[in-house]
Amino acid sequence: MENHNKGQWSSSFGFLMAAIGSAVGLGNLWGFPYKMGMNGGFAFLLLYLILVVLVGFVITTGELALGRRSGKGVVDAFKSIDKKYGFIGWFAWISPLLILGFYCMLGGYCMKYAIANLGDLFGASWGVNGADSGEYFAGFYTDQFQTVLFTVIFILLTVLIVKGGVSGGIEKFTKVAMPALFVMLVIVIIRSVTLPGAAEGIAFMFKPNWEVFQGSGFISVLAAAGGQMFSSLSLGMGITVTYGSYMKKTEDIERNAIIVPLADTIIAIMAGLAVMPAVFASGLDPAGGPGLLFVTLQTVFQAMGGFGPIFGFLLYALVFIAAITSSIALLEAVSSVIMDRELEKNPNADKKSVRNKSVFLVSAIILLEGIFVSVDGLGANGLPQIFGQGCWLDTFDLISEGILMPLGACYMAIILPNAFVDEELTLEGNRFRTRRFYDFCIKFIAPLMMVLVLLGQIDTFFKLGIFG
Ligand code: PFF
Repeated sequence: MENHNKGQWSSSFGFLMAAIGSAVGLGNLWGFPYKMGMNGGFAFLLLYLILVVLVGFVITTGELALGRRSGKGVVDAFKSIDKKYGFIGWFAWISPLLILGFYCMLGGYCMKYAIANLGDLFGASWGVNGADSGEYFAGFYTDQFQTVLFTVIFILLTVLIVKGGVSGGIEKFTKVAMPALFVMLVIVIIRSVTLPGAAEGIAFMFKPNWEVFQGSGFISVLAAAGGQMFSSLSLGMGITVTYGSYMKKTEDIERNAIIVPLADTIIAIMAGLAVMPAVFASGLDPAGGPGLLFVTLQTVFQAMGGFGPIFGFLLYALVFIAAITSSIALLEAVSSVIMDRELEKNPNADKKSVRNKSVFLVSAIILLEGIFVSVDGLGANGLPQIFGQGCWLDTFDLISEGILMPLGACYMAIILPNAFVDEELTLEGNRFRTRRFYDFCIKFIAPLMMVLVLLGQIDTFFKLGIFG
């Protein structure tokens, strides 16, 4: 069943840019380099690569096939296997909806920092102006007016692109934005690795430290690499199913399921090369989280002298691009489910107005969420908290990335019939070269890994120390 009521990618390149854009996001730019450094460097990278092949590739293949076969958003896609599986689709619908609120807030932070570095370049009053980076950041994220403002602007930009439709909005934007991101990343890497003392940062990332595998260490590194791989590839959250539903039947799913994870991994490693050498060259702490991006790196740029604001602007602008190409994917995944509902009620409805209505409805919810997490100011503004988390960003992340996503992906791997995938991958003369490999990994390795990721996430969110 092919259903292009909601749109279709106009070219293979367009699909690839959109799909890579959905995967490359905030997770790559600060999560990956930090986790790699803290979990044994090259040892982590090796496990990460194995997991990308054994789990990332097969779940991406399954999700793309499910999406294209059903031609529907994630809820109806799961219902197309069997009505009783609709709940897995709802899991994958709630997650991006929860993530969007804080993701757009962090995207708004990047806009603020890109603008502030531009201000420094012109010596304007709205620059950072040599302020202490830690104080500047704390002053910003607790300033409810400013954070709400930037969050709302970021949400409106996301909505504007998604409103333009699959090929006229998302594809058109990502086809320009992703190559631009790549070029900017290369420029920042060249600066970063040529700073005096940069070698230490490269060693932090790549130096093999096999000792981390001792005792329960292996499981702990495996859980960290699995969690990173899984959210970096935007799996278990409807995005890949939705983007698959807009693919032409002539497209080779298997080939695309190799290219997207590979590109995502290459960009994650490149992000590490842009960030870590600069952090070490300045003698700063490589610890992760928002502090790495908005305090540590800002300190690095301030220490660079006259050229600092240029590299600062480039880096925050490229992280902004990475964030918005992911937030449009998150919004499309949530909205497409509403569009399916509307089109089911009224199959002859004007497609443009169905899209507009659905996107606006979802945007209203995201605006409320985004304003709420911005007002919370990373937990510093005194709002009551739940589930023992320090801020509402963490609570939304716990429910989505922590629980619903790995659980949903685990279910999917188990219930998705191999015959469906086989049929979908061999259409139009395409060959399914890795069929046996896929059949084995999706039924045995992927569910096991997803359970491990689930345990790892619960361990991290509740600081249980199960994995040491
Ligand atoms: N894959 C994107 C990233 O790494 O930032 C988008 C994303 C997916 C964000 C899943 C968060 C998430 F839980």
